[in-house]
Amino acid sequence: MKFNLRRFSSTIFYITQLRVDVFGAGTDTTFASLEWAISELLRNPHTMKELQQEARKIGQGRLTIPEEDIEKMPYLKAVLKEALRLHVPVPLLIPRESTKEVKLLGYDIPAHTQVMINAWAIARDPSIWEEPEEFRPERFLNIRTDYKGFDFELIPFGAGRRMCPGISFAETIMELALANLVYKFEFTLPNEDGLDMTELDSITLHRKFPILVIPTPCE
Ligand code: HEM
Repeated sequence: MKFNLRRFSSTIFYITQLRVDVFGAGTDTTFASLEWAISELLRNPHTMKELQQEARKIGQGRLTIPEEDIEKMPYLKAVLKEALRLHVPVPLLIPRESTKEVKLLGYDIPAHTQVMINAWAIARDPSIWEEPEEFRPERFLNIRTDYKGFDFELIPFGAGRRMCPGISFAETIMELALANLVYKFEFTLPNEDGLDMTELDSITLHRKFPILVIPTPCE
């Protein structure tokens, strides 16, 4: 059998790059999104209760909620959408560059202009969203607005040809994790001071102070 060193090295390169993509682009964002979703649920006990009721109805005493049952959880999906709206994990997306000269809203944009998109500000724009600073998952129950890149008012994963390729993976992981956490545990804060929601500036938007909660397994 012949050993092709060039093919072997390029395969190793692709595997390494894939690992960098999945771990580099995928873990921090998914973790930050889940942390914000749980923070908002802790600050809004009625929302937590509503989600737990949905999870327990679907779970029916089983050990865990399996992936195939997640589609029957519209409130869970609305909670995650609202968390991704209010806390856009990559607030400025990734910088882009215009490939050719273009006229936009009366402005002449030369070719090779760096474009930054403030997805965080769009998601809190009061001319688009009613009470944008409020965490209200209900707003997504009766509208078709989604984060798949077609509704420009909600683009936590970007849009267009370079939008996040990990969207389905991220969605599945976040839905499964959150559904099972609220299904299996009751959460309480260790003190009465509430939750400090200060954001920490960086490429991925994290909480400045990690959340401290007491999880109690449900019977
Ligand atoms: C909640 C979780 C995630 C969020 C909010 C998120 C968000 C984003 C955003 C905003 C971009 C830039 C898109 C643009 O500028 O138009 C991006 C790119 C990317 N994401 Fe994600 N992402 C998440 C999870 C993941 C996961 C789980 C993976 C991999 C398994 C992943 C892999 C990538 C890669 C490889 C790119 C670069 C794509 C390119 O430049 O062509 N992401 N992501």
